[in-house]
Amino acid sequence: MADGVVVEPLLQLLEKADGGLDSLQVATGLRVDHQLVVGAVKSLQSLGEVISAEQRSSKRWELSCEGKEIAEQGSHEARVFNSVPPEGLAQSQLMNLPSGKVGFSKAMSNKWIRLDKNAEGGPRVYRVVESIEDLVQKKLLLAQQGQTDSLEEKDKNELKKRKLLNEVNVKSYWITKGSAFSTSVTKQETDLTPEMISSGSWHDKKFKPYNFEALGIIPDCGHLHPLMKVRTQFRQIFLEMGFTEMPTNNFIESSFWNFDALFQPQQHPARDQHDTFFLSDPACANHFPEDYLERVKRVHSEGGYGSQGYKYDWKIEEAAKNILRTHTTAVSARMLYRLAQQEEFTPVKYFSIDRVFRNETLDATHLAEFHQIEGVVADYGLTLGDLMGILHQFFTKLGITKLRFKPAYNPYTEPSMEVFSYHEGLQKWVEVGNSGVFRPEMLLPMGLPEGVSVIAWGLSLERPTMIKYGINNIRELVGHKVHLQMVYDSPVCRLDC
Ligand code: PHE
Repeated sequence: MADGVVVEPLLQLLEKADGGLDSLQVATGLRVDHQLVVGAVKSLQSLGEVISAEQRSSKRWELSCEGKEIAEQGSHEARVFNSVPPEGLAQSQLMNLPSGKVGFSKAMSNKWIRLDKNAEGGPRVYRVVESIEDLVQKKLLLAQQGQTDSLEEKDKNELKKRKLLNEVNVKSYWITKGSAFSTSVTKQETDLTPEMISSGSWHDKKFKPYNFEALGIIPDCGHLHPLMKVRTQFRQIFLEMGFTEMPTNNFIESSFWNFDALFQPQQHPARDQHDTFFLSDPACANHFPEDYLERVKRVHSEGGYGSQGYKYDWKIEEAAKNILRTHTTAVSARMLYRLAQQEEFTPVKYFSIDRVFRNETLDATHLAEFHQIEGVVADYGLTLGDLMGILHQFFTKLGITKLRFKPAYNPYTEPSMEVFSYHEGLQKWVEVGNSGVFRPEMLLPMGLPEGVSVIAWGLSLERPTMIKYGINNIRELVGHKVHLQMVYDSPVCRLDC
């Protein structure tokens, strides 16, 4: 029920009232929740001088749950007394009654009952008096009827100590008529609509002033976006497999690390404006490891390390161009270069899950940005068999066991394989990732020892998330059309079930 429903009855009560009204009284009179009356008071206050309201706080005695039960059924001691018949009752039997334990000692100290320890057949309880007066119940009944004033202070404290009565603070409003009091109020408009403008009706409307002090509703708690839930799971899988997370906190990357270091030629179509976002300010990066840059230049233009290279005129201007990284393999390249600078090579297992950007035409499954999941393993003598094995292990942890590999091409891996898995729901093989063994033209200029190979694979985070949460359009998952309710309602992600 909205507070609007209470506004009119409240004004009518106020019209007849002498002086003023207490909002608690109004709530009781109208048989509505006090909060509704408070809401009505607030909306009337916002209208100006219709009413005036002053906040008050008063103390009130309220029966606890147990107190209410006693008011209804009598005190425990009275219930114990009533269950003892004239011929007495075995103490053991009495103790089994619901009020037995608490009521027994109270009834004893009231001298309502006595205990014969030496009775035949075990201790027995007898009545001492003919009848009793259950004062506890009486007092609680008075309190329940709001007549706490007729109770003595020590009674109230005693009941409070027994947790039957609680003293609560209640906040209410003392409401009086304002200088512009009237029993009918015109509703103030909260929105200026296109219809009001076109019909001109806004001229005659009263608008509610903006309350710039109003705070938004504080949500009960935060909610993780489904992508973040799925990311947590992937991260968990990598960590279980002994991988370390790479620092991926730079969305802006130079073409050098994103492409050149990966032996991707400068005229490759992926480096085109149509596929990559270029930065205008700052347009260029200017710090590169000198020697390494020279080796990269040489391997592209002349070859080396047993390769013919691409035989073209490699230009630093092209490599220096700043872009939004198009894949997280740029981070892997930086990490592998860093690894190669160690005095002695140590095997590593790295992973990353972060955002990448591509100048894509947007459709139901593509956005200009998405997340990549990438795994990289570097060690002596790793083979394609190791890559297949680790992919099996990784995808099994995701609950995907049927895998197939298809030869593919990446400028930086040879051999390269697309990874397919059998989708039971769709009844067909779907692509789930891309993988390969990094080329010597990429690794040797970095300074990694000969004989070290690096296997790697990548997949998108969006695809498994959309499948997991049954989302068909990427715009329902990312962007301004996302329903927050979807975020609230999406359950925790378990990838293996
Ligand atoms: N970088 C590739 C992509 O963007 C994925 C990949 C990573 C492929 C590592 C091979 C090895 O699709």
